[in-house]
This record gives sequence, C-alpha cells and structure tokens, in this order.
Amino acid sequence: MIHPDSLTVSRRGVLIAGAASAAAGTLPTDAMAAPDAPTPAPGSVPSARVTLEINGQQHTLELDNRTTLLDTLREHLNLTGTKKGCDHGQCGACTVLLDGVRINSCLTLAVMHQGAKVTTIEGLGTPRALHPMQAAFVKHDGYQCGYCTPGQICSAVGMLDEVRRGIPSHVSADITARPLLSPDELRERMSGNLCRCGAYSNIAEAITEVAGVTA
Ligand code: FES
Ligand code: FES
Repeated sequence: MIHPDSLTVSRRGVLIAGAASAAAGTLPTDAMAAPDAPTPAPGSVPSARVTLEINGQQHTLELDNRTTLLDTLREHLNLTGTKKGCDHGQCGACTVLLDGVRINSCLTLAVMHQGAKVTTIEGLGTPRALHPMQAAFVKHDGYQCGYCTPGQICSAVGMLDEVRRGIPSHVSADITARPLLSPDELRERMSGNLCRCGAYSNIAEAITEVAGVTA
C-alpha cells in the first residue's frame, strides 16, 4: 500500500515540475540564457555622480546614494553654516533654499536634485555685504547661541517669497486672497524653525522689518 505522505510529496513534485515547465515556455530564449546580475562586491555601496550649483558654483561629486543634501553640504563641501540639529525634519536648523524654495536638507537626498541650485547661508550674503535678512537679525538681536540662525534666515527668505507668490498657509482665512504677513501668519509659516534659546520675539521683529520693506 502507498503511504499517504509519499503521495503528498509526489503530488508537490508534479506541481512544481509543471509550474517550472510552464514558466520556461513563456520566457524568451535570450532571457533564459542571460547571466545573473553581477553581485556587488562585499562592502561596496551604490553611488552616483551628482552635479549641483551651490551658491553660484558648480560642484560635481561622487556620492553614496544615501547621502542627504545636508551631509553633502557639511561633510563633502565643508559648508558648515547649515546646521544639523535633529536630522529628522523637526527643528529647521538645516533649512536651505533649493531652486528658491526652502527645504529641510536633512530630509532629502542629494541624488534627487541633479542640476538643482542650492543657496545656503554662505551664499545669501557676505560679512561685508549682508543680505537684508541677515542685517535685520543682527539689528534686532534675533539670536543667542546662533545655532538655529542660518536655518531661521534661509527659512525667512523663502517664506517671504512664498507670501509674495500668494501661497496660503494653514492659518490663511481666505486661500484665494493675497496673504498678508500678520503676526499669526508669520508664526505659522516659521513654525518649522525652532529656537532653543527662545529668541522668537526678536526673530519675528527682524522678519517683520524685512517684510515691511520687500513684501
Ligand atoms: Fe533638519 Fe532638524 S536638522 S530639521
Ligand atoms: Fe540658540 Fe536659536 S539662537 S537655538
């Protein structure tokens, strides 16, 4: 008598053999003959050549695909004005302008931005010719330790541009109307930039002054 276990094995064997032959029948001959994809060498990492225009200068870098824009700036280009606070998109210390739009550089990979224009705090102004937002922060004492300041300034510059372009915020009463930079709007729009020193009132004064001139 045939044991039930051996019958099960026998059935499975038939099914597997049938599936394999059916699949082989649908594959083109050259695909069947293709060699396996090369196995990456142990320890190697996928990398890419990335060109970015940073503060008006072209940079071409060979980067591990996992490199954030923040680490590209700080670790590969020595542009340490952009700060790493949380590295998780929660503090805004790493804010830069990417094609004119503010972004948390810790939350994006450099390889995603081939050919993009990046402006960091080093590219906004110089010690002898400060950007108006930098000058306003100095005038209004908009910092204490200064760690959040580059991100605050880049974010404020990007934020005023958003207001000029009519982009509403979460607190805009009418999303079809041109937004005005009320204190509530300012606080909401800058809420992604934290200041552990609590220099918020001075930061708001600095931004308001620049907005009054240019918005
Ligand atoms: Fe990017 Fe905190 S370091 S948001
Ligand atoms: Fe110190 Fe903002 S000035 S964290």
